[in-house]
Amino acid sequence: MDLKVLEDAGQIAQAVSQIIIEGVSKKSNSVLGFATGASPVPTYELLVRAYKRGELSLKDVTTFNLDEYCGIPADAPQSYRSFMFENLFGLTDVDPEKVNFLNGNAPDYEAECLDYEGKIVRAGGIDIQLLGVGTNGHIGFNEPSDFFTDIPFAVTLTESTKRSNSKYFPDGRVPDYALTMGVGDIMRARKIILIATGESKKNAVKTMAEGIITPQCPASALRLHPDALVFADRDAASLL
Ligand code: GLP
Repeated sequence: MDLKVLEDAGQIAQAVSQIIIEGVSKKSNSVLGFATGASPVPTYELLVRAYKRGELSLKDVTTFNLDEYCGIPADAPQSYRSFMFENLFGLTDVDPEKVNFLNGNAPDYEAECLDYEGKIVRAGGIDIQLLGVGTNGHIGFNEPSDFFTDIPFAVTLTESTKRSNSKYFPDGRVPDYALTMGVGDIMRARKIILIATGESKKNAVKTMAEGIITPQCPASALRLHPDALVFADRDAASLL
């Protein structure tokens, strides 16, 4: 894992968008793993600008999103599908037919997760996986646990994650369950880019970068990956 401390979220977005633009210009049918949350939003803004300037086309990429809530309509404003169309897919030439999300309303979560894993494998694996990090060190919705997860699965969200994400729900009530890619899926990506910005991430960044590698801090697994880049701003890196 390579940790880079940059001044602020804007500089991080510049660096991360550049890596994605270069990756897609070398391989137009790249398989991209996308994340939701506030952390990747400035990067998505720069990707949209690059698209509008004619410097990026996403029409041949296949996308896999990390996670999705269970039990809310796919088109609800809080769904991660809505988030991605609002912030990136709907503003660029991403082909909606090549976009993949876990279906949080599937009748059988286990079958849905196995199907998603099959789709990732059939797409040839993920070339670049973008990640944020939870204040408790979670990646995707892989919460602190006694073991590292592998393929997609259904998860019960922790109170701390529900608290962090309650700002996106008008009544403050976050769903209890979500479907998420496993840590194994993330680790099988050929390149991983994690973005950590703001003071609230400082403990997670410290544990991820300097603590022991443990499923109690799922992001610490990235230290075992040959091409994982972590971008932290000064506030998120302040305990290092
Ligand atoms: C959510 C998402 C994660 C995301 C994390 C951090 O729980 N499931 O994928 O990385 O929040 O979000 P933010 O970037 O808003 O801090």
